[in-house]
Amino acid sequence: MARVATLTIGDKKIELPVIVGSEGEAAIDIAKLRAETGHITYDPAYGNTGACQSAITFIDGDKGYLRYRGIPIEQLAEQSDFIETAWLLIFGHLPTRAERARFDARLAVDAHIHEAFKHHFEGFPSNAPPMAILSAMINTAACFATATYADPDTHDPEAFEEAAARLISKVRTIAAYTYRMTKGLPYIYPDPKLSYVANFLHMMFSMPYAPYEVHKEVEEALDLILTLHADHEQNCSTSTVRMVGSSKANLFASCAAGVCALWGPLHGGANVEVLEMLDTIHKGGVTAEDYLKQVKEKKVLLYGFGHRVYKNFDPRARILKESSDKVLAKLGVKDPLLDIARRLEELALKDSYFVDRKLYPNVDFYSGIIMKAIGIPVSMFTVMFAIGRMPGWIAQWKEQRDEPNGRIARPRQIYVGPTKTDYVPMERRG
Ligand code: MLT
Repeated sequence: MARVATLTIGDKKIELPVIVGSEGEAAIDIAKLRAETGHITYDPAYGNTGACQSAITFIDGDKGYLRYRGIPIEQLAEQSDFIETAWLLIFGHLPTRAERARFDARLAVDAHIHEAFKHHFEGFPSNAPPMAILSAMINTAACFATATYADPDTHDPEAFEEAAARLISKVRTIAAYTYRMTKGLPYIYPDPKLSYVANFLHMMFSMPYAPYEVHKEVEEALDLILTLHADHEQNCSTSTVRMVGSSKANLFASCAAGVCALWGPLHGGANVEVLEMLDTIHKGGVTAEDYLKQVKEKKVLLYGFGHRVYKNFDPRARILKESSDKVLAKLGVKDPLLDIARRLEELALKDSYFVDRKLYPNVDFYSGIIMKAIGIPVSMFTVMFAIGRMPGWIAQWKEQRDEPNGRIARPRQIYVGPTKTDYVPMERRG
């Protein structure tokens, strides 16, 4: 029998259908609430609001589960790679051999950027924030498109696959060129023979006279970081992409908006905050013990710990913790900031203050440590998150675009400003 929730407001009683998802999560469907009662719901920051039904990513924050299209993140981390995971998210199934080969070929062909496009980088000051450049350049990339792939009304699967490949491929080139521009280094063209991640490292760190040698450990560690960031259901940036897409803005414009949402220190920008916090601790000569004491006294913030959804260890953090142990040992990296990070982690994990509050190190904490160890500049950390999240944004944009009864997102509000007030002409305002 269909479940219903009964709501009583004053002397009016209504029945609201209960929707149950494939993992048993339940939601009260309030679509008719306003029409039937004149009331809306109030849920600032949407902590209790389901904005869509989605078949892409499942999170159980209490149990610490994360699954892409049903597949546990642990299995993908172990057996898949970023590009295969991207395909899975966007198209809903693991690619066949032929699909993978076709997508790889598209990524290789689409990696270059138009020569005229290259000049756009020169218009930015060298200290421009890379996330600002990335967002602007994603929109710029759409301007260089001749095909209709960015058109939200195009339901041609071939055009969509090409659009997805272009965006995933170009965002990596744009990211690398951004870094080169900020450092005054020559742009390095993509090499189609290299894997997605190796190609990125090549464009970031090669010199025309000295190719960068891509170490397997570094390539694998970065691929893992991207895979683990590929989607995370209705987080702030993904909700932004869906919100912008709901106006029928094209894929590129919607994802460019996602970049801006991700930039903030409470979202993707947190990985930069983690490194800045470690730097402050180091420069101030503070011990990890002292810093945690100050956190408990609420004098300073502890970045990279805790998560809005996970009340258990973030499964991505668990995987990255293991990887960071291996990568650091293999690379033999010596860095005082990394030592501080390890000490903070060690102390916090056995301190009841943090354990009771479920303040475990999260994905930003470990991804920051690994990225620092493998030589990714801190200024590029959030950009790396954006590269990783691109498949998720594309998948979510497509899902909402394909919804048969999709409507433009338009929340309501409770107005708390002045009631009707008369206009006062300038001469009577003093
Ligand atoms: C993410 O991966 O987007 C972050 O963990 C934030 C979130 O899910 O709210």
